[in-house]
Amino acid sequence: MSAIQTTVVLAMTADGKISAVDPQAPRDSDAADQEHVEYQVSLADLILVGAGTIRAEGVSFTIRNPELLAAREVRGQSPQPITCIVSGSLNLSPNLPFLSQDIKRWIFTTQTGLERNSDATTLQKLAELIDLGDTDLDWDRAYSLIAERGIYKVVVLGGGSLTAALVKAGKIDDWWLTIWPVIYGGKNAPSPVEGEGFLPNAAPHLQLVETRQVGSELFLHYRTLK
Ligand SMILES: NC(=O)c1ccc[n+]([C@@H]2O[C@H](COP(=O)([O-])OP(=O)(O)OC[C@H]3O[C@@H](n4cnc5c(N)ncnc54)[C@H](OP(=O)(O)O)[C@@H]3O)[C@@H](O)[C@H]2O)c1
Repeated sequence: MSAIQTTVVLAMTADGKISAVDPQAPRDSDAADQEHVEYQVSLADLILVGAGTIRAEGVSFTIRNPELLAAREVRGQSPQPITCIVSGSLNLSPNLPFLSQDIKRWIFTTQTGLERNSDATTLQKLAELIDLGDTDLDWDRAYSLIAERGIYKVVVLGGGSLTAALVKAGKIDDWWLTIWPVIYGGKNAPSPVEGEGFLPNAAPHLQLVETRQVGSELFLHYRTLK
């Protein structure tokens, strides 16, 4: 197992959707889930977020709870983790609110994205653009760079395409899945892991290590069996 620990933190409906059919529709969230996400993010050195999620939501998650901020200081961590957007195409507007948040920003991208995007020079002033492959992003290179920069704890905040890429690359150590007591339905609504899917004989298996119930909401912690 690598020295870097990668944890996925996602919430899904009881029917397995991470957002409604319309991705622009605001997501369900409540105080218990916000508190849970804030605690998990507070442990991170680096947050990974897919370009689809940042395009839909505009901003990255930040920690506000003074006790969690104090605990980060004691551990020698910066007040906020670095947020790294993953975007092979680099199709990101320089006007995204994320690009003016008071946090350290990286963007994992490709040579093709850097060459094709006319805003690349502007984006370079707003975030560190990191080229990790010609057309496909090489996750082993990404993780070598993460390790070189002294990062131990990575939290993946979705969406489903990013988690699929990380599952395929074998990078996920554990999962926190919140189950919201609601049904969104819709065959085109995204689920925690999108991509091409895995046949049962190649599907990653999990071990349930912890459960917590708050009202009708469930917080499930799984470890990936490697
Ligand atoms: N319920 C929850 O906890 C939760 C959490 C997060 C998101 N969401 C929801 O999920 C939806 C977005 O999910 P999504 O699956 O559509 O998008 P996503 O995973 O956030 O982003 C997909 C994009 O990320 C980039 N990307 C991902 N893996 C890559 C790789 N290996 N190489 C290069 N680029 C890669 C690509 O960007 P480019 O297209 O720029 O190349 C791809 O189009 C939104 O509606 C959001 O609100 C819900």
